[in-house]
Amino acid sequence: MIQINDVSIVYDHTIIAINHLTTTIHAPVTAIIGENGSGKSTLLTSIVGLHPMAGSILVDGIEVKKENLHTIRKRVGYLFQNPDHQLFMNTVYEDIAFGLVSQGMDQDVVKEKVEAMACQLHIDDLLARNCAKLSGGQKSLVALAGVLVMEPDILLLDEPTAFLDPKARRRIINILKSLPQSIILATHDLDMAYDLVDEVILIHKGMLITKGDKQMLTNKDILESNGLELPLRFQ
Ligand SMILES: Nc1ncnc2c1ncn2[C@@H]1O[C@H](COP(=O)(O)OP(=O)(O)O)[C@@H](O)[C@H]1O
Ligand SMILES: [Mg+2]
Repeated sequence: MIQINDVSIVYDHTIIAINHLTTTIHAPVTAIIGENGSGKSTLLTSIVGLHPMAGSILVDGIEVKKENLHTIRKRVGYLFQNPDHQLFMNTVYEDIAFGLVSQGMDQDVVKEKVEAMACQLHIDDLLARNCAKLSGGQKSLVALAGVLVMEPDILLLDEPTAFLDPKARRRIINILKSLPQSIILATHDLDMAYDLVDEVILIHKGMLITKGDKQMLTNKDILESNGLELPLRFQ
């Protein structure tokens, strides 16, 4: 469970990205939705302690603050909106393996886990490739593999389908459906949200507008008044 208590986050002393936001996230799969610039990414990154903030966030009762970040980041896997911020090793294999290797896991076990994850995401043919030279969609899948292979208790995924073609997008949705972990998705892919989530948190200009079940995604008025459109299937 994630408790967000009166959190405000300001960039450059002027841009209020999150504005006195209070909510609790405890559903198995939750979507944070909102138009561009509404604060979705800032909210997700604040859960793993990437911003100074006013207010407090607790992850399963542990407060997000410097001395707890090691514990929190072990428990929470975070997928950046931009895969270039996630990939920094030379090869795809090294990148997916990075977290496991830094935990000191045995090389053979690492190899087994990395290969199994790569097969599941259909990127096993990329393992020897240089990350920098992949397409946007391929990079997204590699970054996701690096997060999933760690088997964290909670997954924070920022726009996981943004760069994917329809086939890879469908595959990812099915994989996410099958995962046992709690998932929090920041997304403007409301069709994906409709397929996956139990709960929806709508934010606008850094403020909580409303929280509800996925029927919210069929409510044209509330979506449109916050800069969003109905999922394609309801248009
Ligand atoms: N590193 C940054 N420096 C300054 N402003 C930022 C930075 N990151 C985001 N912002 C601003 O904060 C607000 C929220 O951004 P963001 O959390 O990325 O929204 P979303 O993910 O919903 O598109 C926007 O106004 C954005 O321009
Ligand atoms: Mg974002």
